[in-house]
Amino acid sequence: MGARGLLVVVLVVTLSTVCAEEACSEHGSIVDGKCVCNTPLPVDDSPGWVGNKCAIRVHHLTLDGKDVQETCGNGHICNVVTPTEPVCFSAGIAGLESSAFYLNLLFTSNEVGANVVLQGLLTNFTSTLDPTTGATAVVPQMYPNADAPYSFSTHVSQGSTGTQLKLTRQQLGYGAYTGLYLCVRTDATTIVSLRAAEHTCPFDLFANGTLQLCSGRSSSDACPHGICTCLPPYNPPSNWVVTPGLGFEDCSTALMQLQPSIPLTVPELAPGGWVFYRVEVPESGGRELHVWAATAEATKGSLVLYLRHQQLPGDAAGQHELASDSAAAPFPTSWWHDQSAHLILRRRESFFQTGTWYLGVHNKGVGPVSFSVGSALHDCPNNCSDRGTCDATTGKCICSEPTAPVSADCSIALHELELDKEVVMEPRQFTFDELVLRGIRDKLQVSGATRVKLAVSFTTTDPDSAGLPSWVNGRPVVLAAPSLEAALNQTAADRDGGAHPLHPQGTVESLALSTHGVSYSMNIGSWTVGDDGSLRVVIWNPLSSPLRQVGYRLAVLLQTECPGECSGHGTCNTTTGQCTCEEPYTGADCSVDPSSRVCTNGTSRSVRREGVRGLCWVPCREDGRSFDDESCDDLQCDGPGEGHGQLRRKGTEVECVEDMCVAGNYTVVDPSGDFLCTRRCVCPEDGSACTMEGTCLAGTNQCLKGLRLAEDGVNCVAAGACEEGSLKRAYDMEGGSIFSVCQCTAAGNPASCSFSVPTLAAGNANGVVSCLPGYERQSSTSTIKLSDGNSVVVGGTCGRPRKRGVSGGMVFFYCLLSIFLAAGLVVGGKYGVLWYEQYRYGRSIFSQGYVSWPLFGIRGNAGSGTDDW
Ligand SMILES: *[C@@H]1O[C@H](CO)[C@@H](O)[C@H](O)[C@H]1NC(C)=O
Ligand SMILES: *[C@@H]1O[C@H](CO)[C@@H](O)[C@H](O)[C@H]1NC(C)=O
Ligand SMILES: *[C@@H]1O[C@H](CO)[C@@H](O)[C@H](O)[C@H]1NC(C)=O
Ligand SMILES: *[C@@H]1O[C@H](CO)[C@@H](O)[C@H](O)[C@H]1NC(C)=O
Ligand SMILES: *[C@@H]1O[C@H](CO)[C@@H](O)[C@H](O)[C@H]1NC(C)=O
Ligand SMILES: *[C@@H]1O[C@H](CO)[C@@H](O)[C@H](O)[C@H]1NC(C)=O
Ligand SMILES: *[C@@H]1O[C@H](CO)[C@@H](O)[C@H](O)[C@H]1NC(C)=O
Repeated sequence: MGARGLLVVVLVVTLSTVCAEEACSEHGSIVDGKCVCNTPLPVDDSPGWVGNKCAIRVHHLTLDGKDVQETCGNGHICNVVTPTEPVCFSAGIAGLESSAFYLNLLFTSNEVGANVVLQGLLTNFTSTLDPTTGATAVVPQMYPNADAPYSFSTHVSQGSTGTQLKLTRQQLGYGAYTGLYLCVRTDATTIVSLRAAEHTCPFDLFANGTLQLCSGRSSSDACPHGICTCLPPYNPPSNWVVTPGLGFEDCSTALMQLQPSIPLTVPELAPGGWVFYRVEVPESGGRELHVWAATAEATKGSLVLYLRHQQLPGDAAGQHELASDSAAAPFPTSWWHDQSAHLILRRRESFFQTGTWYLGVHNKGVGPVSFSVGSALHDCPNNCSDRGTCDATTGKCICSEPTAPVSADCSIALHELELDKEVVMEPRQFTFDELVLRGIRDKLQVSGATRVKLAVSFTTTDPDSAGLPSWVNGRPVVLAAPSLEAALNQTAADRDGGAHPLHPQGTVESLALSTHGVSYSMNIGSWTVGDDGSLRVVIWNPLSSPLRQVGYRLAVLLQTECPGECSGHGTCNTTTGQCTCEEPYTGADCSVDPSSRVCTNGTSRSVRREGVRGLCWVPCREDGRSFDDESCDDLQCDGPGEGHGQLRRKGTEVECVEDMCVAGNYTVVDPSGDFLCTRRCVCPEDGSACTMEGTCLAGTNQCLKGLRLAEDGVNCVAAGACEEGSLKRAYDMEGGSIFSVCQCTAAGNPASCSFSVPTLAAGNANGVVSCLPGYERQSSTSTIKLSDGNSVVVGGTCGRPRKRGVSGGMVFFYCLLSIFLAAGLVVGGKYGVLWYEQYRYGRSIFSQGYVSWPLFGIRGNAGSGTDDW
């Protein structure tokens, strides 16, 4: 609005009624049904007034790091904000065009229970000459009210103390704006502190108002032309192909040397942050380089390792040779299992070269991570897993301990098991162990044992006596299988997301050991005995962090019943299944009384009944002259034999049945390999055979392979391709860029989410249009509804503004959107915007709190109601 417009307003003001003046709090007048404020900027020491009713105070904000309460001056209180009295501040930012390249805002609130929002409105402050008085007045192009398109907002919410917003000259449109309003709203009375500062160098603004340039890590003649001269180790390599966004602009990223076998610790790598290491791979010696990073505490961060030859790696395709989260990596899901990440560079890879490699550690999660990082150079695979010696000339391991033939790196230890003898393995790093119990089929048949039981427990080197920390998701798994291959196939399916065919349930039985120190027992069926009559038990340890070692104890027991329960004339030894008879009884079942002519009243003998596959115990007739062979007082069913296992009498009937399982609850891996659950073995009351129920007990499903439990609590679904509402740059076009939007076709089902595929030819429909400063969105747009009802505007093109002029907030907003994406910022909790491409935009980390933007209308607190959206 020009000076002439204001003059008209002044005239209207003088003619308007007292009533209208009250409606505009005596600081404005009504034009077209809306208040127009008289003094939207502070004049000398008096505050200005803005807002729908011109009732919100505006104080001066200086860009010198001082707190607003120091500078608003003249006895005004400008740092107290109540739910009914928001406060605004104004500052001229013309300096960002020429002298200052960076603008920081440091904002805190002293009331932890208050949700405080700071909104920013970029506009132009224009000096105009009043022809009637000859005085110049500064007039804002726009001021905060319901129609103002706020450019950004940041929250300080429950528990968080404050937030620092770092804006660069590029992000602020190279001086396209000369004025800035900041407005503070709250839902509970609070005292705020707001400091703003500008500088040529990137800097941090401290709570005491001082500025620290270049993270305090640049040489003393600071930063010519706004570029920090970072001191080692905060400087990139000299041959670096400059890639903005890695943190070398403000000396926040370090590049260090990583020596083999000397781990380093890194404190608090912020979300989006990088650390780089130089790793030397010599001409000779060392066929493989292993690098790893692991945390020792719970974190919301997520580390990914990248290796690149001679250049700093990035996370985009083509910016690295190896990535720890790719399917080809040694433990691609290890971050999920125990928050460790691994990479192995092998001399036989086509891209292998000797010389300097750079390791990049990138925090792709939403919280800071403290971690250790280490490397090792080995001549043999996995340095022969510490159970062999390495022949450096051939690169082959000579295993010093019995090892499964499939493991060239001696990693799969082979142990012979003996019945009833506990194997104790001290904690160490391993992935698989194979334990073999030979001749178990023969022993089952000879002993007439009815059950094979595995008793197993595990321990770790975690210092906490309660065992594994709760954030460690992976658990050791015991598998009983007819062959090692079958067990490895099953675990490979678990690890690689179902890439291998699974076995019909029953061939491999498995049990995840959920709690450290607890003794688990597993009853295993005869079907798990292999063709060679041996039982193979495989321990799979998915915990690959070098900070944790796993040990275990395991025993195999046979449990045996005695024939005829020793006829009531002896005692049963359950280990051997043999009766010790009382005098004068004899026989395996103590049924024979040698003192009788034929038989003694009250004794029995056994008669084989082929049809029922068992022995009938028939009583001695009362006269003692013969046994009553037609009757069947007691039925002893056959032990394991051809075509059947141990048989059992069906109640009191003369019938033998074969139990498929022992009553109780079992942890079973679903044939799909997607989840574990508890299933019941049911033994019907009438004595019929016990069978496994086909369905899982409600609420016992536990997903495997990194899947997540769906909302129905039953199905396991893949983590989606993307998070609903997140954006990804699709392509650039004249005047701006197009971003794909992640949409989900079924609410709550991440597998249904995918990025939209906008095309220029289709008018960028399905894409979010982001215009550069000086452009505005034009052409037709449409709205995409997200599953929770929020909507995103898509389509259109970027064109030079028509007559109306670019809406300041719009230009800024599009620009800021790109920045937020570049910063990998998480927005509003649910709609996480994860954006890692950094080469185009500068980096800006918004520490603590979170920033929300009008795009998603989160909490309806910013810029709603403008027709642009
Ligand atoms: C301001 O705070 C920073 C960090 O807290 C400190 O290093 C610096 O010495 C302080 N400066 C003054 C003048 O107190
Ligand atoms: C490799 O294993 C050998 C023998 O176990 C050991 O002496 C050596 O220190 C290991 N090397 C590395 C780099 O860990
Ligand atoms: C293990 O999986 C492979 C395919 O990945 C299959 O060819 C092989 O037969 C499986 N092994 C067993 C014992 O089923
Ligand atoms: C059972 O028999 C075994 C082997 O003969 C023997 O060592 C053990 O002591 C016996 N147990 C009992 C309770 O008699
Ligand atoms: C045999 O035993 C039954 C019951 O135990 C008893 O009723 C019967 O009198 C006995 N007969 C003789 C001849 O002892
Ligand atoms: C099996 O699990 C169910 C449901 O959790 C429970 O009610 C039942 O007592 C368990 N049975 C046994 C034998 O543990
Ligand atoms: C703000 O003013 C500057 C010069 O004073 C001008 O170049 C720029 O286009 C204006 N910005 C807007 C958004 O009107």
